[in-house]
Parts: sequence; C-alpha cells; structure tokens
Amino acid sequence: MKILNGDLSKKDIENWLRETDPKKLSILWDTADALRLKYVGNTVHFRGLLEISNHCIRKCTYCGINSAFQTIPRYRMSKEEVMAGVYNIAELGYGTVVMQAGEDYGLTREFIADIIQSIKIHTSLAVTLSLGERPHEDLLAWKKAGADRYLLRFETSAQNLYRLIHPSLGAAEPLLQRFHILKKLRDLGYEIGSGVMIGIPGQTYQVLANDIDHFRALDLDMVGVGPYIASPETALGRGLIEIPDVGNEQVPANELMTYKAVALARLVCPQANIPSTTALATINRVDGRELGLKRGANIVMPNITPTKYREQYTIYPNKAGINESALACATAIRHRIEKLGREAGSGAGGRSRDGSMP
Ligand code: 5AD
Repeated sequence: MKILNGDLSKKDIENWLRETDPKKLSILWDTADALRLKYVGNTVHFRGLLEISNHCIRKCTYCGINSAFQTIPRYRMSKEEVMAGVYNIAELGYGTVVMQAGEDYGLTREFIADIIQSIKIHTSLAVTLSLGERPHEDLLAWKKAGADRYLLRFETSAQNLYRLIHPSLGAAEPLLQRFHILKKLRDLGYEIGSGVMIGIPGQTYQVLANDIDHFRALDLDMVGVGPYIASPETALGRGLIEIPDVGNEQVPANELMTYKAVALARLVCPQANIPSTTALATINRVDGRELGLKRGANIVMPNITPTKYREQYTIYPNKAGINESALACATAIRHRIEKLGREAGSGAGGRSRDGSMP
C-alpha cells in the first residue's frame, strides 16, 4: 500500500483505516513518527487551554453544552479570570494560550479583542482562538488585536450527516459554512486548525477518508482528531437522531481508529501541529496521550481552566484530567514527555513552512 504524502490516494487512506494487521499498522505508526521527527522535530509544544465560557447558541446534537440543555449551569469568565489563567500559562512555561468557548455572543467582539491586546502587551504568548462560527467582522477585529491562530473543526465533510449533527440556525446559513470560514481565516492571516471526531454515528470509512483528504486540501496548520464520546444527555447520545444505517461501514469510535487518523493526518499534513487530544487520553487514561505522541502527534493541550468551571464544560463525560490542578497536570505531562525521549517545548511552536524547526 502506498504511504507517502504525495502518493497517498483517498482510496489508500480508506484502506489504511480498514487495516487490522498489527505488522502493517506498525509501518503506518513508524512512518508517521518519522515524518513527525523530520518536519516538526522532537519538541512537544504545550498549548494552555482556557475554557472561557460554556454558553452556546448552537444545538450540535453530539455536544454536552449545546443550547438545548436549558438546565445546566452556565458560566462566562471575567477578563480578570482569563488574565489570571493567561499569567498561569506563562509561568508554567507554555508558549500558547488557547481560548475556547461555546459559540457565545456574550463574549463580544470588543471583550475578546481587549483580552487579546492585554495578552500581547503583558506576555509573549501566541494566541489561539476556538470560539465557533463568528462573523467576519469579529474574526477581523481579533486578528488586528493580535490573535495568531483559530481552531474550527469541520466535524464531517458529508453534507447530509453534517446537518444531522449540526442543525442550521436559519435558512440563510450556507451548508458546510465551516469550510467558508476556514478559508476566510486563512485569508485574514490566521494559522488555521480543523479536524473531526472519529466514529460519530453515520461516519463511514469512505467519509472519514474524505475528511482526511480535506485536511490535505485545506493545507491545515493544525489538525485535531479525537474519538467521539457519546454524551448521554444529547440527542445523538440518546439515539434520537435518525442517522441512516451504514451497517459494517460505520467507523468505530475507538482508540485504534483514532491512532490511525492521527497517523494519517501526519502523512497528509506533514508540517502540521497535531495534538494528542484530551478525548484520546479520556478513552485510554494509562497511555493514550503517549501513544498519540508516538504515532504522529507533537502537541499537548493541558487544561488551565479554573477547576470550578471545568466540570461545567462537559462537551462529553468523564473528561481526563478534570480534577487535576494546572501545576499537577503540567508536572505529570512533562514527565511523560521526557520518558518518551522527547523534549518539552517552551516557545510558541507555530507552523513552519520552510523546514526550519518551530
Ligand atoms: N465527543 C468527542 N468530541 C466532542 N466534541 C464535541 N462533543 C464531543 C463528543 N461528544 C469536540 C468537537 C468540537 C471540539 C471542541 O470538541 O469536535 O469541535
């Protein structure tokens, strides 16, 4: 089976996703690991994650903080709380802050721009935003304020499935709007990150192969893939959404499949920054993070959200590390990285297109 980036066809990707022979799979892991070393080096970069609000206007049927849940407690961090987290991240020696939230217009354009400016004045951190499908004017203002990167997973490239998991908010909303927004972000000068969940109901091998092919076509700077973890209160988790039955073609939402997707993401986007995700660490608490890092990933995203808010940011249940303090989490992760023979990074770790190590 062909393995090199330029050569890898959509069919090859699909065949790798179906592969079960451990000997053949070890070729995939080794190739991904070698490409990781060649293109992004031995350093594992940290992104300190701040979940700044769990308010959301969307009704994504897989997500535990979607707006259909009217009874869950909602929070929105103040500027002081966000900045305290930012200083914490800088003190821990991480090079990037990721501000993530539901799609929350209570986080106004001005509020976020003001925080970005303060971060840039007081620290040397890179700023990554993950705030949903915001209008052009917001994305522009935040770029001008100094934001560096934006994460927006497109979740699936299959249009019919997308509508079932991500209901439209109005007739005017174009289908697959997230692809348009990613393009816009790129034009505005952001580094762009996207990705999908592995094993959402209705995701076939062919669809996931097509998703991974899109990572390449979008030339993503960052790729995030993690297993789908059914959130028991959601419509999708409760089986209330009528997903067409795809039988044996359904991609399983398991660990092995996630490693395949991480490795294939490295093959199609060799220069990208790829996290070993919290969702992966959630389904294998023992060494999920390490195995992700050994099979293509080069980033970890320790959660720096104040503990009192973390349990309210339940996009899926039993999230790994939910009770760990930032410091305990930082120490444990550094230890794990060193045990793998890798270095814990301290810089911003942006995408490098010229072959020089970030
Ligand atoms: N299982 C796994 N990942 C999820 N996300 C949202 N809900 C779930 C879930 N139930 C992912 C989505 C989103 C990212 C922030 O979290 O891919 O883009």
